Amino acid sequence: MASNKTFTMIKPHAVADNNIGGIIAMIEAAGFRIVAMKKTQLTPALAGKFYEVHKERGFYAELCEMMSSGPIVPIILEKENAVADFRTLIGATNPENAAEGTIRKIYAKSLSENAIHGSDSDENAAIEGSFFFGVIEQY
Ligand code: TYD
Repeated sequence: MASNKTFTMIKPHAVADNNIGGIIAMIEAAGFRIVAMKKTQLTPALAGKFYEVHKERGFYAELCEMMSSGPIVPIILEKENAVADFRTLIGATNPENAAEGTIRKIYAKSLSENAIHGSDSDENAAIEGSFFFGVIEQY
């Protein structure tokens, strides 16, 4: 059975642009329930840890710098088929390829500043949620 939880982060440029509310409104309207949420800021080292899977990629340094450049809003979400449905809601990684009406199509500025993260598997959703939230916050 597909997991009912996924993990997301509203990225620094979207927080700085006052788009937390608009993005969360789209998430709730799509049927997701907020399980845990906070506003916090990553250090470059913590951003590097979160995105460790990309450490050999050319965009890794830019990604870590961007993700630690200001406050972010990490969120654990719940919904049936959460991981796949949330990836559909946020749209393609590159906003130029994102479908109309998706969060990235509306709020992303570029490939690197693409507004929002969405876990790509049930396993990563659990790992990423636990990166930011303790056990008692995840229920
Ligand atoms: P990735 O995990 O491939 O995409 P997604 O966030 O859709 O799961 O990449 C992580 C982030 O890295 C992505 O959201 C934006 C950034 N990125 C770049 O800056 N340049 C790139 O060429 C790619 C592929 C990603």
